[in-house]
Amino acid sequence: MILGLETSCDETAAALVTGDGRILSNVVSSQADLHARYGGVVPEVASRRHLELVTPVIREALGEAGAELGDVDTVGVTTGPGLIGALLVGLAAAKAIAWARRLPLVPVDHLHGHVASLYLEPAAERPVRDSGPGEGVRGNREVPPRLPLEPPFLCLLASGGHTLLLDVQEPGSQRVLGSTLDDAAGEAFDKGARLLGLGYPGGAELDRLARDGDAEAYSFPVARVPGLDFSFSGLKTALLYAVRDLPAEELEQRRADLAASYQRAIVRALVERTMQAAESIGAERTAVVGGVAANSELRSSLPEAALAPLALCTDNAAMIASAARFAEPIPYPGYLALDAYASTA
Ligand code: KG4
Ligand code: ZN
Repeated sequence: MILGLETSCDETAAALVTGDGRILSNVVSSQADLHARYGGVVPEVASRRHLELVTPVIREALGEAGAELGDVDTVGVTTGPGLIGALLVGLAAAKAIAWARRLPLVPVDHLHGHVASLYLEPAAERPVRDSGPGEGVRGNREVPPRLPLEPPFLCLLASGGHTLLLDVQEPGSQRVLGSTLDDAAGEAFDKGARLLGLGYPGGAELDRLARDGDAEAYSFPVARVPGLDFSFSGLKTALLYAVRDLPAEELEQRRADLAASYQRAIVRALVERTMQAAESIGAERTAVVGGVAANSELRSSLPEAALAPLALCTDNAAMIASAARFAEPIPYPGYLALDAYASTA
Protein backbone atom coordinates (compact mmCIF):
# COMPACT_ATOMS: atom_id res chain seq x y z
CA MET A 1 0.00 0.00 0.00
CA ILE A 2 1.00 3.60 -0.58
CA LEU A 3 1.43 6.16 2.19
CA GLY A 4 0.59 9.62 0.81
CA LEU A 5 1.69 12.84 2.52
CA GLU A 6 0.52 16.38 1.72
CA THR A 7 1.76 19.56 3.45
CA SER A 8 1.92 22.11 0.63
CA CYS A 9 -0.28 24.76 2.27
CA ASP A 10 -2.28 24.73 5.50
CA GLU A 11 -3.54 21.15 5.58
CA THR A 12 -1.43 18.44 7.18
CA ALA A 13 -2.63 15.24 5.54
CA ALA A 14 -1.75 11.55 5.40
CA ALA A 15 -3.56 8.72 3.64
CA LEU A 16 -3.20 5.04 2.83
CA VAL A 17 -4.28 3.93 -0.61
CA THR A 18 -3.95 0.53 -2.29
CA GLY A 19 -2.19 0.05 -5.61
CA ASP A 20 -5.56 -0.25 -7.33
CA GLY A 21 -6.86 3.01 -5.88
CA ARG A 22 -8.91 2.05 -2.84
CA ILE A 23 -8.75 4.54 0.03
CA LEU A 24 -7.97 2.77 3.32
CA SER A 25 -7.69 5.99 5.31
CA ASN A 26 -7.60 9.71 4.57
CA VAL A 27 -6.75 12.02 7.48
CA VAL A 28 -6.71 15.79 7.01
CA SER A 29 -5.85 18.19 9.80
CA SER A 30 -6.70 21.69 8.71
CA GLN A 31 -4.88 24.66 10.20
CA ALA A 32 -7.55 27.07 8.91
CA ASP A 33 -8.53 28.21 12.40
CA LEU A 34 -4.93 29.00 13.23
CA HIS A 35 -4.58 31.32 10.21
CA ALA A 36 -8.11 32.79 10.29
CA ARG A 37 -7.15 35.69 12.53
CA TYR A 38 -4.57 36.83 9.95
CA GLY A 39 -7.05 36.56 7.06
CA GLY A 40 -4.74 34.22 5.15
CA VAL A 41 -2.08 31.56 5.54
CA VAL A 42 1.08 32.73 7.31
CA PRO A 43 3.83 30.55 5.80
CA GLU A 44 6.11 30.30 8.83
CA VAL A 45 3.20 29.55 11.15
CA ALA A 46 2.07 26.84 8.71
CA SER A 47 5.50 25.16 8.62
CA ARG A 48 5.72 25.03 12.41
CA ARG A 49 2.25 23.57 12.72
CA HIS A 50 3.00 20.93 10.06
CA LEU A 51 5.99 19.91 12.13
CA GLU A 52 3.79 19.36 15.19
CA LEU A 53 1.05 17.56 13.29
CA VAL A 54 2.80 15.42 10.72
CA THR A 55 3.65 12.46 13.00
CA PRO A 56 0.25 12.25 14.78
CA VAL A 57 -1.55 12.56 11.44
CA ILE A 58 0.49 9.69 9.94
CA ARG A 59 -0.18 7.60 13.07
CA GLU A 60 -3.90 8.30 12.76
CA ALA A 61 -3.92 7.34 9.08
CA LEU A 62 -2.19 4.04 9.87
CA GLY A 63 -4.58 3.40 12.76
CA GLU A 64 -7.66 4.11 10.69
CA ALA A 65 -6.46 1.73 7.99
CA GLY A 66 -5.63 -0.92 10.60
CA ALA A 67 -2.10 -0.90 9.20
CA GLU A 68 1.47 -0.53 10.43
CA LEU A 69 4.44 1.16 8.84
CA GLY A 70 5.62 -2.33 7.87
CA ASP A 71 2.62 -2.63 5.51
CA VAL A 72 3.64 0.44 3.50
CA ASP A 73 5.58 -0.35 0.34
CA THR A 74 5.80 3.10 -1.28
CA VAL A 75 5.78 6.66 0.08
CA GLY A 76 4.28 9.39 -2.11
CA VAL A 77 4.74 13.02 -1.11
CA THR A 78 3.92 16.45 -2.53
CA THR A 79 7.16 18.18 -3.54
CA GLY A 80 5.53 21.30 -5.06
CA PRO A 81 4.14 23.74 -5.91
CA GLY A 82 3.29 25.30 -2.56
CA LEU A 83 4.81 27.05 0.44
CA ILE A 84 8.41 25.95 0.49
CA GLY A 85 8.79 25.62 4.27
CA ALA A 86 5.51 23.71 4.51
CA LEU A 87 6.49 21.34 1.68
CA LEU A 88 9.86 20.63 3.28
CA VAL A 89 8.20 19.28 6.44
CA GLY A 90 6.22 16.67 4.49
CA LEU A 91 9.18 15.82 2.30
CA ALA A 92 11.51 15.34 5.30
CA ALA A 93 8.94 13.07 6.97
CA ALA A 94 8.50 11.06 3.76
CA LYS A 95 12.26 10.68 3.29
CA ALA A 96 12.72 9.55 6.89
CA ILE A 97 10.01 6.87 6.65
CA ALA A 98 11.12 5.64 3.22
CA TRP A 99 14.83 5.64 4.08
CA ALA A 100 14.38 3.84 7.41
CA ARG A 101 12.49 1.05 5.64
CA ARG A 102 14.44 1.07 2.36
CA LEU A 103 11.29 1.94 0.45
CA PRO A 104 10.97 3.81 -2.83
CA LEU A 105 9.74 7.41 -2.68
CA VAL A 106 7.53 9.07 -5.30
CA PRO A 107 7.68 12.88 -5.64
CA VAL A 108 4.19 14.12 -6.55
CA ASP A 109 3.22 17.42 -8.15
CA HIS A 110 0.30 18.89 -6.17
CA LEU A 111 -1.65 19.68 -9.35
CA HIS A 112 -1.29 16.12 -10.64
CA GLY A 113 -2.55 15.14 -7.20
CA HIS A 114 -5.78 17.10 -7.64
CA VAL A 115 -6.41 15.44 -11.02
CA ALA A 116 -5.62 12.02 -9.52
CA SER A 117 -8.52 12.47 -7.06
CA LEU A 118 -10.60 11.26 -10.04
CA TYR A 119 -8.71 7.96 -10.24
CA LEU A 120 -9.77 6.75 -6.80
CA GLU A 121 -12.54 4.36 -5.96
CA PRO A 122 -15.25 6.58 -4.40
CA ALA A 123 -15.80 5.75 -0.73
CA ALA A 124 -19.58 5.76 -1.11
CA GLU A 125 -22.07 6.85 -3.71
CA ARG A 126 -21.30 10.37 -4.76
CA PRO A 127 -23.51 12.81 -2.88
CA VAL A 128 -26.27 14.17 -5.06
CA ARG A 129 -26.41 17.94 -4.96
CA ASP A 130 -29.98 19.00 -4.90
CA SER A 131 -29.74 22.73 -5.28
CA GLY A 132 -32.17 22.68 -8.22
CA PRO A 133 -31.47 23.70 -11.78
CA GLY A 134 -30.14 27.24 -11.74
CA GLU A 135 -29.49 29.25 -14.85
CA GLY A 136 -26.77 27.73 -16.94
CA VAL A 137 -27.86 24.20 -16.22
CA ARG A 138 -28.36 22.24 -19.37
CA GLY A 139 -31.71 20.62 -19.85
CA ASN A 140 -30.85 17.17 -21.14
CA ARG A 141 -29.32 15.54 -18.10
CA GLU A 142 -27.06 12.67 -18.98
CA VAL A 143 -25.66 10.34 -16.38
CA PRO A 144 -22.28 11.77 -15.38
CA PRO A 145 -19.27 9.52 -15.94
CA ARG A 146 -18.64 7.28 -12.97
CA LEU A 147 -15.50 7.38 -10.91
CA PRO A 148 -12.77 6.25 -11.11
CA LEU A 149 -12.38 8.11 -14.36
CA GLU A 150 -9.99 7.16 -17.12
CA PRO A 151 -8.34 9.66 -19.48
CA PRO A 152 -8.72 11.23 -21.95
CA PHE A 153 -10.75 14.11 -20.52
CA LEU A 154 -10.75 17.87 -20.16
CA CYS A 155 -10.16 18.90 -16.56
CA LEU A 156 -10.97 22.15 -14.80
CA LEU A 157 -8.72 22.48 -11.75
CA ALA A 158 -9.98 25.31 -9.56
CA SER A 159 -8.43 25.80 -6.13
CA GLY A 160 -7.19 28.52 -3.82
CA GLY A 161 -3.87 28.70 -5.66
CA HIS A 162 -4.70 27.67 -9.24
CA THR A 163 -7.27 27.86 -11.99
CA LEU A 164 -6.29 25.66 -14.89
CA LEU A 165 -7.86 23.99 -17.87
CA LEU A 166 -5.99 20.77 -18.55
CA ASP A 167 -5.99 18.37 -21.45
CA VAL A 168 -5.45 15.02 -19.71
CA GLN A 169 -4.51 12.34 -22.20
CA GLU A 170 -3.13 9.83 -19.72
CA PRO A 171 -2.73 9.61 -15.94
CA GLY A 172 0.30 11.54 -14.80
CA SER A 173 0.63 13.85 -17.78
CA GLN A 174 -1.40 16.91 -18.65
CA ARG A 175 -1.21 19.85 -21.02
CA VAL A 176 -2.21 23.31 -19.82
CA LEU A 177 -4.77 24.92 -22.14
CA GLY A 178 -5.57 27.96 -20.03
CA SER A 179 -4.96 29.48 -16.61
CA THR A 180 -5.73 32.58 -14.62
CA LEU A 181 -3.96 35.82 -15.40
CA ASP A 182 -4.42 37.14 -11.85
CA ASP A 183 -6.41 35.64 -8.94
CA ALA A 184 -7.30 31.96 -8.72
CA ALA A 185 -11.03 31.12 -8.54
CA GLY A 186 -10.72 30.04 -4.90
CA GLU A 187 -8.87 33.25 -4.13
CA ALA A 188 -11.74 35.20 -5.71
CA PHE A 189 -14.17 33.31 -3.46
CA ASP A 190 -12.01 33.99 -0.41
CA LYS A 191 -11.58 37.69 -1.17
CA GLY A 192 -15.30 38.08 -1.85
CA ALA A 193 -16.10 36.28 1.39
CA ARG A 194 -13.83 38.65 3.27
CA LEU A 195 -15.57 41.70 1.77
CA LEU A 196 -18.87 40.21 2.93
CA GLY A 197 -17.57 39.76 6.46
CA LEU A 198 -17.24 35.97 6.33
CA GLY A 199 -14.35 34.01 7.84
CA TYR A 200 -11.24 32.64 6.15
CA PRO A 201 -11.14 30.67 3.91
CA GLY A 202 -14.59 31.83 2.95
CA GLY A 203 -15.45 29.86 -0.21
CA ALA A 204 -17.66 27.31 1.52
CA GLU A 205 -19.33 29.97 3.70
CA LEU A 206 -20.03 32.18 0.69
CA ASP A 207 -21.53 29.13 -1.04
CA ARG A 208 -23.87 28.62 1.94
CA LEU A 209 -24.84 32.31 2.18
CA ALA A 210 -25.52 32.44 -1.59
CA ARG A 211 -28.26 29.82 -1.22
CA ASP A 212 -30.46 32.42 0.50
CA GLY A 213 -29.80 35.12 -2.08
CA ASP A 214 -30.94 36.21 -5.53
CA ALA A 215 -28.17 35.57 -8.06
CA GLU A 216 -29.70 38.07 -10.48
CA ALA A 217 -29.83 40.92 -7.94
CA TYR A 218 -26.50 42.36 -9.04
CA SER A 219 -24.79 42.06 -12.35
CA PHE A 220 -21.10 41.52 -11.74
CA PRO A 221 -18.93 41.53 -14.84
CA VAL A 222 -16.31 38.89 -15.51
CA ALA A 223 -13.44 39.96 -17.71
CA ARG A 224 -13.29 38.14 -21.01
CA VAL A 225 -9.64 37.66 -21.79
CA PRO A 226 -8.41 36.13 -25.03
CA GLY A 227 -7.87 32.40 -25.45
CA LEU A 228 -8.78 30.01 -22.68
CA ASP A 229 -7.48 32.07 -19.78
CA PHE A 230 -9.35 33.53 -16.81
CA SER A 231 -9.26 36.84 -14.96
CA PHE A 232 -11.01 37.40 -11.64
CA SER A 233 -9.39 40.50 -10.18
CA GLY A 234 -11.88 42.99 -11.67
CA LEU A 235 -14.79 41.07 -10.19
CA LYS A 236 -13.46 41.49 -6.69
CA THR A 237 -13.22 45.26 -7.24
CA ALA A 238 -16.82 45.34 -8.49
CA LEU A 239 -17.95 43.66 -5.27
CA LEU A 240 -15.85 46.05 -3.22
CA TYR A 241 -17.64 49.04 -4.79
CA ALA A 242 -21.08 47.45 -4.38
CA VAL A 243 -20.38 46.84 -0.69
CA ARG A 244 -18.95 50.31 -0.17
CA ASP A 245 -21.98 51.99 -1.75
CA LEU A 246 -24.44 50.36 0.64
CA PRO A 247 -25.38 51.87 4.00
CA ALA A 248 -24.49 49.48 6.86
CA GLU A 249 -28.10 48.40 7.67
CA GLU A 250 -28.87 47.72 4.05
CA LEU A 251 -25.64 45.78 3.56
CA GLU A 252 -26.77 43.29 6.18
CA GLN A 253 -30.01 42.68 4.23
CA ARG A 254 -28.25 42.41 0.88
CA ARG A 255 -25.36 40.16 1.86
CA ALA A 256 -26.99 36.99 0.56
CA ASP A 257 -27.90 38.68 -2.76
CA LEU A 258 -24.35 39.97 -3.11
CA ALA A 259 -22.93 36.52 -2.34
CA ALA A 260 -25.28 34.81 -4.82
CA SER A 261 -24.56 37.31 -7.61
CA TYR A 262 -20.83 37.20 -7.02
CA GLN A 263 -20.80 33.40 -6.99
CA ARG A 264 -22.89 33.34 -10.16
CA ALA A 265 -20.28 35.48 -11.95
CA ILE A 266 -17.39 33.20 -10.94
CA VAL A 267 -19.29 30.02 -11.80
CA ARG A 268 -20.38 31.43 -15.17
CA ALA A 269 -16.80 32.26 -16.08
CA LEU A 270 -15.62 28.78 -15.07
CA VAL A 271 -18.43 26.96 -16.89
CA GLU A 272 -18.15 29.03 -20.09
CA ARG A 273 -14.43 28.54 -20.41
CA THR A 274 -14.62 24.85 -19.54
CA MET A 275 -17.16 24.21 -22.27
CA GLN A 276 -15.15 26.26 -24.72
CA ALA A 277 -11.98 24.31 -23.88
CA ALA A 278 -13.77 20.97 -24.16
CA GLU A 279 -15.00 21.98 -27.58
CA SER A 280 -11.58 23.22 -28.70
CA ILE A 281 -9.95 19.83 -28.09
CA GLY A 282 -13.02 17.77 -28.93
CA ALA A 283 -13.13 16.30 -25.43
CA GLU A 284 -15.95 13.87 -24.85
CA ARG A 285 -15.63 14.01 -21.09
CA THR A 286 -15.12 16.84 -18.67
CA ALA A 287 -14.03 16.72 -15.04
CA VAL A 288 -13.75 19.24 -12.21
CA VAL A 289 -11.28 19.01 -9.30
CA GLY A 290 -9.82 21.26 -6.57
CA GLY A 291 -11.34 23.09 -3.61
CA VAL A 292 -13.74 25.13 -5.76
CA ALA A 293 -15.12 21.88 -7.22
CA ALA A 294 -16.95 21.62 -3.87
CA ASN A 295 -19.05 24.65 -4.83
CA SER A 296 -22.71 23.68 -5.07
CA GLU A 297 -23.58 26.01 -7.94
CA LEU A 298 -20.57 24.89 -9.99
CA ARG A 299 -21.50 21.25 -9.39
CA SER A 300 -25.08 21.72 -10.49
CA SER A 301 -24.03 23.84 -13.49
CA LEU A 302 -21.93 21.01 -14.92
CA PRO A 303 -24.25 18.03 -14.47
CA GLU A 304 -22.51 15.97 -17.12
CA ALA A 305 -19.03 16.41 -15.72
CA ALA A 306 -17.18 13.96 -13.50
CA LEU A 307 -16.86 15.78 -10.19
CA ALA A 308 -14.25 14.94 -7.59
CA PRO A 309 -16.05 13.57 -4.51
CA LEU A 310 -16.58 16.36 -1.95
CA ALA A 311 -14.09 14.90 0.54
CA LEU A 312 -11.40 14.88 -2.16
CA CYS A 313 -11.94 18.40 -3.56
CA THR A 314 -9.94 20.33 -0.97
CA ASP A 315 -6.35 19.36 -0.20
CA ASN A 316 -5.87 15.80 1.01
CA ALA A 317 -3.26 13.05 0.84
CA ALA A 318 -5.39 10.33 -0.78
CA MET A 319 -5.10 12.23 -4.06
CA ILE A 320 -1.31 12.42 -3.59
CA ALA A 321 -1.08 8.66 -2.98
CA SER A 322 -3.30 8.20 -6.03
CA ALA A 323 -1.00 10.29 -8.24
CA ALA A 324 2.01 8.38 -6.88
CA ARG A 325 0.62 5.27 -8.59
CA PHE A 326 1.25 6.88 -11.97
CA ALA A 327 4.59 8.63 -11.35
CA GLU A 328 8.16 7.35 -11.42
CA PRO A 329 9.31 6.04 -8.02
CA ILE A 330 12.87 6.86 -6.91
CA PRO A 331 14.45 3.71 -5.46
CA TYR A 332 16.11 3.72 -2.01
CA PRO A 333 18.24 5.74 -1.21
CA GLY A 334 18.34 7.97 -4.31
CA TYR A 335 15.86 10.49 -2.92
CA LEU A 336 17.83 11.81 0.04
CA ALA A 337 18.92 14.95 -1.84
CA LEU A 338 15.46 15.51 -3.38
CA ASP A 339 14.25 19.10 -3.00
CA ALA A 340 10.84 20.78 -2.88
CA TYR A 341 9.82 23.59 -5.26
CA ALA A 342 7.58 26.58 -4.58
CA SER A 343 6.32 27.06 -8.13
CA THR A 344 6.62 25.47 -11.53
CA ALA A 345 7.27 28.73 -13.35
O1 KG4 B 1 -7.68 22.73 -3.32
P1 KG4 B 1 -7.66 23.57 -2.10
O2 KG4 B 1 -7.96 22.91 -0.77
O3 KG4 B 1 -6.29 24.27 -1.88
C1 KG4 B 1 -5.42 24.70 -2.87
O4 KG4 B 1 -4.73 23.84 -3.47
O5 KG4 B 1 -5.42 25.91 -3.10
O6 KG4 B 1 -8.68 24.77 -2.36
C2 KG4 B 1 -9.03 25.67 -1.36
C3 KG4 B 1 -9.94 26.72 -1.96
C4 KG4 B 1 -10.20 27.90 -1.03
O7 KG4 B 1 -10.02 29.09 -1.76
C5 KG4 B 1 -11.65 27.71 -0.61
O8 KG4 B 1 -12.31 28.91 -0.31
C6 KG4 B 1 -12.24 27.07 -1.84
O9 KG4 B 1 -11.24 26.15 -2.26
N1 KG4 B 1 -13.50 26.37 -1.56
C7 KG4 B 1 -14.69 26.73 -2.10
C8 KG4 B 1 -15.67 25.86 -1.56
N2 KG4 B 1 -15.03 25.00 -0.71
C9 KG4 B 1 -13.71 25.32 -0.73
N3 KG4 B 1 -15.00 27.70 -2.97
C10 KG4 B 1 -16.29 27.82 -3.34
N4 KG4 B 1 -17.28 27.04 -2.85
C11 KG4 B 1 -17.03 26.05 -1.97
N5 KG4 B 1 -18.01 25.28 -1.52
ZN1 ZN C 1 -4.70 22.05 -3.67
